[in-house]
Amino acid sequence: MIKFINETAEYLISKGFHKPEIGIILGTGLGQLTNHIEDPIEISYNHIPYFPTATVEFHKGKLIYGSIKGKKVVVMQGRFHLYEGYSLQDVTYPVRIMNALGIKALLVSNAAGGINLNFKKGELMLIDDHINLQGNSPLAFKGVEQMGTRFTDMCAPYDKNLNTKLKEIAKKENIQLHQGVYASVFGPQLETRAEYRFLKIIGADAVGMSTVPEVIVANHLDLKVVAVSVLTDECDPDNLAPVNIDEIIEMAHKAEPQMITLFKKLIAEL
Ligand code: HPA
Repeated sequence: MIKFINETAEYLISKGFHKPEIGIILGTGLGQLTNHIEDPIEISYNHIPYFPTATVEFHKGKLIYGSIKGKKVVVMQGRFHLYEGYSLQDVTYPVRIMNALGIKALLVSNAAGGINLNFKKGELMLIDDHINLQGNSPLAFKGVEQMGTRFTDMCAPYDKNLNTKLKEIAKKENIQLHQGVYASVFGPQLETRAEYRFLKIIGADAVGMSTVPEVIVANHLDLKVVAVSVLTDECDPDNLAPVNIDEIIEMAHKAEPQMITLFKKLIAEL
């Protein structure tokens, strides 16, 4: 894998991806931050050597290099999900690439269901811890110790300083930012009522189908991580209506300006 990573990174460097400081992963319905990138260089995922092959649904996925607030960034517009049939190795390959390019911090966003019913749809939640319910680890492969520690510590997977900064920014900007635990499930089916009850009992505040693999690999590589969920629906097992994917995407779009403000201000302060 090290050979592939080097080749992918060399390809991107040859296209102008020079020494980005910050990596950003944009989740479902959260692509508009890319309009704030200055001097962008865009490359479709399916043109990048050794990148997971894009699915039809994924035709828009691209990696973008440029600057935001004077900082060099590399941005993933769209991510790979386990539920699309990708492996954990595939899903986290871009994090290894961004690391090889030189990033020091990773900003992650996603759309998630609200388990904590004090949080309302359309609001944001800073992820300050997670529960991995995807049944596997992106670090469980032969040779992992050549790329970072095998027994990666998870006592603080989300960077405390960055979290504090983000909370201060949210306060200043009058943005409601909850804080809580994100549980990752495999998907793509939504959860049953019993599963929502279970998630609440085990301490989850939000649930989604992404982020945790990328965060585990980022920790394995010693990157600082900050992650924010847009709560797109309220997962109340006692009043559960069929999920409406269009509404989920609409909610993500609604919260997007706030997410952009938080990320841009944080980037300025990094
Ligand atoms: N589960 C429930 N609701 C959601 C999810 C999920 O994984 N993602 C976004 N809304």
